[in-house]
Amino acid sequence: MKAIICKKFAPVSELIWEEVADPVAGPGEIVVDVKAAGLNYPDSLIVQGLYQFQPKRPFSPGHEGAGIVSSVGEGVKTHRVGDSVAFFKGFGAFAEKIVLSEGLAFPIPDTLPHPVAAGVFMVYGTSYHALVQRANITKDDEVLVLGASGGVGLAAVDIAKSFGARVVAAVSSKEKASVCRRYNVDDVVIYGKEKLDQEGQKLFTKELKSKSRGSGFSIIYDPLGDCFAEPALRSISWGGTYLVVGFAAGKIPSLPTNLMLLKGCAVSGVFIGRFQQEEPKQSAQNIQEIGKLLSSGKLTPFISETIPMAESVDAIERIAKRGVVGKVVFIND
Ligand SMILES: NC(=O)c1ccc[n+]([C@@H]2O[C@H](COP(=O)([O-])OP(=O)(O)OC[C@H]3O[C@@H](n4cnc5c(N)ncnc54)[C@H](OP(=O)(O)O)[C@@H]3O)[C@@H](O)[C@H]2O)c1
Repeated sequence: MKAIICKKFAPVSELIWEEVADPVAGPGEIVVDVKAAGLNYPDSLIVQGLYQFQPKRPFSPGHEGAGIVSSVGEGVKTHRVGDSVAFFKGFGAFAEKIVLSEGLAFPIPDTLPHPVAAGVFMVYGTSYHALVQRANITKDDEVLVLGASGGVGLAAVDIAKSFGARVVAAVSSKEKASVCRRYNVDDVVIYGKEKLDQEGQKLFTKELKSKSRGSGFSIIYDPLGDCFAEPALRSISWGGTYLVVGFAAGKIPSLPTNLMLLKGCAVSGVFIGRFQQEEPKQSAQNIQEIGKLLSSGKLTPFISETIPMAESVDAIERIAKRGVVGKVVFIND
């Protein structure tokens, strides 16, 4: 088979598409012929050794995908050859085949195309867990989503709207705002491409506050961090929940704890990988629920590009530089 290979931690441009040995299913494992794989921001970090988790080299990046089970190892109970599945492993998806523990794959209905199923685990799984388990979202919430046109951001917008909440989307440009408008967001804020200095942060807080219908946002979804975090936290309502999802804007921010005291608010961490390990039943339930919402059309992922897997390196570079919207999916013929 062929695969995108990372031989040593290095810039994304050093990844290569090359012939490697076919994987073999050991006891409790399955091999999936990968039909499609979803691109995620952490894929650009993991190959540079900049991610929390560092696989043994050589390896293929790619957290998630979908395809057809082509062989099963001894003792496998939940999957059979020919089953259509989606999977989430953390690495290995940017390849023609992947081997994984049977518990990392989930059956998908025939009505769910592989390119759609391949791109939902990470972003919808993360945002659903954040909004449902961490923030207990209801239709009465006012939700601010930062980085709202990106992978996890747009999934958060879609999920929050499906709950009937009021949603304000914050993005860097008009073009990105127009992607959010497809989801009927209630308002948008454009923060531009530059980092915010102190004055910029004050203005950002003022603008965010002006976009709330009440006394601030009851849920703030933050995949950006850096200079956006504190001004966003200042726009939270009394008793609100601030969700720490990621740091795509660069620095991990330090937040003044007096703000949490004054707002009576919660700052809640979101980590999909650990959540799956610690709470596998709840995680599987979430995936089922997301599957139902997708099948019924209540959730509609935005796949902006489908690219042959062999040509994926350019897109992995672009996601690290703010150059993609929604979801990019790689496909094998
Ligand atoms: N906690 C978890 O379990 C979990 C799970 C998945 C992802 N994440 C994290 O969430 C963050 C977003 O992931 P994603 O897959 O949604 O990525 P993405 O699709 O690339 O979206 C990230 C968004 O961040 C914004 N951004 C602002 N400054 C940026 C910069 N300097 N470089 C790149 N993007 C910048 C961009 O929108 P604008 O141009 O509009 O600002 C971009 O759309 C990442 O930090 C990722 O590691 C966390």
